Amino acid sequence: MVRKPLVAGNWKMNGVAASLAELKRLKERLGQSPVPDTDIMICPPATLLAQARYALSGGTIKLGAQDCHPLPSGAHTGDLSAEMLADAGAQAIIVGHSERRTDHDETSALVNAKARAAHRAGMIAMICMGETEQERRGEATLEVIKRQLDGSLPQDARAANTVIAYEPVWAIGSGLTPTATDIAEVHGFIRAELGRMIGQGEATDFRILYGGSVKPTNAGELLVVPDVDGALVGGASLKADDFYGILSAYAGRSAC
Ligand code: PGA
Repeated sequence: MVRKPLVAGNWKMNGVAASLAELKRLKERLGQSPVPDTDIMICPPATLLAQARYALSGGTIKLGAQDCHPLPSGAHTGDLSAEMLADAGAQAIIVGHSERRTDHDETSALVNAKARAAHRAGMIAMICMGETEQERRGEATLEVIKRQLDGSLPQDARAANTVIAYEPVWAIGSGLTPTATDIAEVHGFIRAELGRMIGQGEATDFRILYGGSVKPTNAGELLVVPDVDGALVGGASLKADDFYGILSAYAGRSAC
Protein backbone atom coordinates (compact mmCIF):
# COMPACT_ATOMS: atom_id res chain seq x y z
CA MET A 1 0.00 0.00 0.00
CA VAL A 2 1.35 3.41 -0.97
CA ARG A 3 0.01 6.21 1.16
CA LYS A 4 -0.91 9.29 -0.82
CA PRO A 5 0.75 12.27 0.85
CA LEU A 6 -1.36 15.14 2.08
CA VAL A 7 -0.04 18.67 2.42
CA ALA A 8 -2.53 20.89 4.23
CA GLY A 9 -2.25 24.60 4.88
CA ASN A 10 -3.68 25.93 8.13
CA TRP A 11 -4.33 29.64 7.80
CA LYS A 12 -5.31 29.91 11.48
CA MET A 13 -6.82 33.35 12.30
CA ASN A 14 -5.41 34.91 9.14
CA GLY A 15 -7.01 35.93 5.90
CA VAL A 16 -9.64 38.30 4.56
CA ALA A 17 -11.36 38.39 1.18
CA ALA A 18 -8.24 39.91 -0.45
CA SER A 19 -6.25 36.83 0.62
CA LEU A 20 -8.22 34.75 -1.89
CA ALA A 21 -5.77 36.11 -4.48
CA GLU A 22 -3.18 33.75 -2.93
CA LEU A 23 -5.55 30.81 -3.40
CA LYS A 24 -6.11 31.75 -7.01
CA ARG A 25 -2.37 32.03 -7.57
CA LEU A 26 -1.78 28.63 -6.00
CA LYS A 27 -4.48 27.13 -8.19
CA GLU A 28 -2.86 28.70 -11.26
CA ARG A 29 0.61 27.44 -10.35
CA LEU A 30 -0.74 23.93 -9.79
CA GLY A 31 -2.58 24.19 -13.10
CA GLN A 32 0.69 25.01 -14.86
CA SER A 33 2.92 22.58 -12.92
CA PRO A 34 0.83 19.95 -11.14
CA VAL A 35 2.22 18.05 -8.18
CA PRO A 36 1.33 14.43 -8.90
CA ASP A 37 -0.11 11.88 -6.49
CA THR A 38 -0.43 14.35 -3.65
CA ASP A 39 -3.52 15.62 -1.85
CA ILE A 40 -3.33 19.38 -1.42
CA MET A 41 -5.60 21.22 1.00
CA ILE A 42 -6.09 24.71 2.35
CA CYS A 43 -7.93 25.36 5.63
CA PRO A 44 -8.87 29.05 5.66
CA PRO A 45 -10.88 30.68 8.46
CA ALA A 46 -14.56 29.77 8.32
CA THR A 47 -15.45 33.26 7.10
CA LEU A 48 -13.69 32.50 3.80
CA LEU A 49 -14.89 28.94 3.19
CA ALA A 50 -17.73 29.78 0.83
CA GLN A 51 -15.64 32.19 -1.23
CA ALA A 52 -12.66 29.84 -1.21
CA ARG A 53 -14.86 27.01 -2.49
CA TYR A 54 -15.83 29.21 -5.40
CA ALA A 55 -12.22 30.34 -6.03
CA LEU A 56 -10.95 26.74 -5.99
CA SER A 57 -13.67 25.20 -8.15
CA GLY A 58 -12.36 23.31 -11.14
CA GLY A 59 -8.93 22.87 -9.53
CA THR A 60 -7.24 20.15 -7.49
CA ILE A 61 -6.95 21.96 -4.14
CA LYS A 62 -9.24 20.59 -1.46
CA LEU A 63 -10.86 22.73 1.19
CA GLY A 64 -10.64 22.13 4.91
CA ALA A 65 -11.86 23.89 8.05
CA GLN A 66 -10.40 24.65 11.45
CA ASP A 67 -12.18 23.27 14.50
CA CYS A 68 -15.87 22.55 15.09
CA HIS A 69 -18.39 22.08 17.89
CA PRO A 70 -19.14 18.44 18.76
CA LEU A 71 -22.91 18.85 18.28
CA PRO A 72 -24.69 19.17 14.92
CA SER A 73 -26.73 22.28 15.87
CA GLY A 74 -28.17 24.14 18.82
CA ALA A 75 -27.86 27.08 21.16
CA HIS A 76 -24.07 27.59 21.08
CA THR A 77 -23.43 31.20 20.18
CA GLY A 78 -20.37 31.70 18.02
CA ASP A 79 -19.73 28.00 17.41
CA LEU A 80 -19.87 26.13 14.12
CA SER A 81 -20.89 22.50 13.65
CA ALA A 82 -19.14 20.02 11.38
CA GLU A 83 -22.34 19.85 9.32
CA MET A 84 -22.24 23.63 8.76
CA LEU A 85 -18.59 23.46 7.69
CA ALA A 86 -19.38 20.60 5.31
CA ASP A 87 -22.25 22.63 3.92
CA ALA A 88 -19.84 25.52 3.28
CA GLY A 89 -17.60 23.20 1.23
CA ALA A 90 -15.03 21.81 3.68
CA GLN A 91 -13.97 18.18 3.32
CA ALA A 92 -11.85 17.96 6.46
CA ILE A 93 -11.56 19.61 9.88
CA ILE A 94 -8.44 20.26 11.94
CA VAL A 95 -9.16 19.26 15.55
CA GLY A 96 -6.99 19.20 18.66
CA HIS A 97 -4.48 21.76 17.43
CA SER A 98 -2.18 22.75 20.30
CA GLU A 99 -3.42 26.34 19.99
CA ARG A 100 -6.93 25.08 20.80
CA ARG A 101 -5.69 22.73 23.51
CA THR A 102 -3.83 25.66 25.12
CA ASP A 103 -5.97 28.74 24.36
CA HIS A 104 -9.29 27.00 25.02
CA ASP A 105 -8.25 24.29 27.49
CA GLU A 106 -9.42 21.58 25.12
CA THR A 107 -9.04 18.08 26.52
CA SER A 108 -8.41 14.98 24.45
CA ALA A 109 -11.97 13.86 25.32
CA LEU A 110 -13.32 17.01 23.66
CA VAL A 111 -11.00 16.55 20.68
CA ASN A 112 -12.31 12.99 20.38
CA ALA A 113 -15.90 14.31 20.32
CA LYS A 114 -14.97 16.85 17.65
CA ALA A 115 -13.30 14.18 15.53
CA ARG A 116 -16.48 12.10 15.81
CA ALA A 117 -18.46 15.17 14.74
CA ALA A 118 -16.28 15.46 11.64
CA HIS A 119 -16.96 11.80 10.83
CA ARG A 120 -20.69 12.23 11.46
CA ALA A 121 -20.68 15.01 8.85
CA GLY A 122 -18.82 12.77 6.38
CA MET A 123 -15.53 14.60 6.73
CA ILE A 124 -11.92 13.75 7.48
CA ALA A 125 -10.77 14.56 11.01
CA MET A 126 -7.20 15.86 11.12
CA ILE A 127 -6.25 15.19 14.72
CA CYS A 128 -3.22 17.12 16.01
CA MET A 129 -0.95 16.19 18.87
CA GLY A 130 2.49 17.07 20.12
CA GLU A 131 4.69 17.64 23.14
CA THR A 132 5.78 20.94 24.69
CA GLU A 133 9.43 21.92 24.96
CA GLN A 134 9.43 21.02 28.64
CA GLU A 135 7.96 17.59 27.94
CA ARG A 136 10.57 16.97 25.24
CA ARG A 137 13.37 18.01 27.61
CA GLY A 138 11.91 15.75 30.26
CA GLU A 139 11.96 12.85 27.77
CA ALA A 140 8.19 12.52 28.08
CA THR A 141 7.44 12.92 24.36
CA LEU A 142 6.23 9.40 23.63
CA GLU A 143 4.24 9.25 26.84
CA VAL A 144 2.47 12.53 25.93
CA ILE A 145 1.79 11.33 22.38
CA LYS A 146 0.41 8.03 23.65
CA ARG A 147 -1.91 9.85 26.06
CA GLN A 148 -3.14 12.29 23.40
CA LEU A 149 -3.61 9.54 20.81
CA ASP A 150 -5.45 7.24 23.24
CA GLY A 151 -7.73 10.08 24.31
CA SER A 152 -8.30 11.83 20.98
CA LEU A 153 -8.72 8.98 18.49
CA PRO A 154 -12.37 7.95 18.15
CA GLN A 155 -13.24 4.27 17.90
CA ASP A 156 -14.55 4.73 14.37
CA ALA A 157 -11.25 6.24 13.16
CA ARG A 158 -10.00 4.64 9.96
CA ALA A 159 -7.35 5.61 7.42
CA ALA A 160 -10.11 6.86 5.11
CA ASN A 161 -11.67 9.28 7.61
CA THR A 162 -8.81 10.36 9.86
CA VAL A 163 -5.34 11.86 9.57
CA ILE A 164 -2.91 12.36 12.45
CA ALA A 165 -0.70 15.45 12.55
CA TYR A 166 2.34 15.29 14.82
CA GLU A 167 3.15 18.88 15.74
CA PRO A 168 5.68 19.49 18.50
CA VAL A 169 4.36 22.60 20.25
CA TRP A 170 7.86 24.12 20.43
CA ALA A 171 8.30 23.77 16.67
CA ILE A 172 5.10 25.64 15.75
CA GLY A 173 5.83 29.10 14.39
CA SER A 174 9.31 29.06 15.95
CA GLY A 175 11.52 28.19 13.00
CA LEU A 176 12.77 25.20 15.01
CA THR A 177 12.24 21.62 13.88
CA PRO A 178 13.07 18.27 15.45
CA THR A 179 15.78 16.16 13.85
CA ALA A 180 14.79 13.65 11.20
CA THR A 181 15.60 10.88 13.69
CA ASP A 182 13.28 12.36 16.32
CA ILE A 183 10.45 12.78 13.80
CA ALA A 184 10.89 9.23 12.54
CA GLU A 185 10.80 7.93 16.11
CA VAL A 186 7.53 9.69 16.95
CA HIS A 187 5.83 8.84 13.64
CA GLY A 188 6.90 5.20 13.95
CA PHE A 189 5.56 5.17 17.50
CA ILE A 190 2.21 6.66 16.39
CA ARG A 191 1.89 4.02 13.67
CA ALA A 192 2.70 1.23 16.10
CA GLU A 193 0.14 2.56 18.57
CA LEU A 194 -2.45 2.86 15.80
CA GLY A 195 -1.74 -0.78 15.00
CA ARG A 196 -2.47 -1.71 18.59
CA MET A 197 -5.67 0.38 18.64
CA ILE A 198 -7.26 -0.27 15.25
CA GLY A 199 -5.27 -3.10 13.69
CA GLN A 200 -2.10 -3.35 11.66
CA GLY A 201 -3.75 -3.14 8.25
CA GLU A 202 -5.53 0.15 9.00
CA ALA A 203 -2.42 1.55 10.71
CA THR A 204 -0.32 0.86 7.62
CA ASP A 205 -2.74 2.89 5.50
CA PHE A 206 -3.01 5.81 7.95
CA ARG A 207 -1.52 9.15 6.98
CA ILE A 208 0.64 10.77 9.65
CA LEU A 209 1.61 14.37 8.86
CA TYR A 210 4.42 16.36 10.37
CA GLY A 211 3.73 19.99 11.34
CA GLY A 212 5.84 22.76 12.85
CA SER A 213 7.92 25.30 10.91
CA VAL A 214 7.71 23.45 7.59
CA LYS A 215 9.13 25.80 4.94
CA PRO A 216 10.20 25.53 1.30
CA THR A 217 13.80 25.33 2.56
CA ASN A 218 13.31 22.29 4.83
CA ALA A 219 10.39 20.47 3.17
CA GLY A 220 12.73 18.35 1.06
CA GLU A 221 14.36 16.90 4.20
CA LEU A 222 11.26 16.63 6.36
CA LEU A 223 8.93 15.02 3.85
CA VAL A 224 11.25 12.10 3.11
CA VAL A 225 11.52 11.05 6.75
CA PRO A 226 10.16 7.50 7.18
CA ASP A 227 6.48 7.40 8.18
CA VAL A 228 5.97 11.08 7.28
CA ASP A 229 3.02 11.19 4.88
CA GLY A 230 2.83 14.91 4.31
CA ALA A 231 2.72 18.13 6.27
CA LEU A 232 0.43 20.48 8.13
CA VAL A 233 1.74 23.94 7.33
CA GLY A 234 0.93 27.16 9.17
CA GLY A 235 2.80 30.36 8.32
CA ALA A 236 4.21 29.16 5.03
CA SER A 237 0.73 28.31 3.71
CA LEU A 238 -0.34 31.96 3.63
CA LYS A 239 1.66 32.79 0.52
CA ALA A 240 1.02 30.75 -2.61
CA ASP A 241 4.67 30.75 -3.64
CA ASP A 242 5.89 29.49 -0.25
CA PHE A 243 3.24 26.78 -0.14
CA TYR A 244 4.01 25.74 -3.71
CA GLY A 245 7.69 25.63 -2.70
CA ILE A 246 6.79 23.07 -0.04
CA LEU A 247 4.66 21.08 -2.47
CA SER A 248 7.58 20.99 -4.91
CA ALA A 249 9.26 18.55 -2.52
CA TYR A 250 6.81 16.02 -3.98
CA ALA A 251 6.98 17.23 -7.57
CA GLY A 252 9.80 14.93 -8.62
CA ARG A 253 8.50 11.79 -7.02
CA SER A 254 7.18 9.12 -9.31
CA ALA A 255 4.01 7.20 -8.65
CA CYS A 256 4.73 3.66 -7.61
P1 PGA B 1 3.79 26.69 11.44
O1 PGA B 1 2.43 26.13 12.06
O2 PGA B 1 4.00 26.01 10.11
O3 PGA B 1 3.57 28.16 11.31
O4 PGA B 1 4.89 26.34 12.40
C1 PGA B 1 2.11 24.77 11.93
C2 PGA B 1 0.78 24.49 12.56
O5 PGA B 1 0.48 25.04 13.63
O6 PGA B 1 -0.02 23.72 11.99
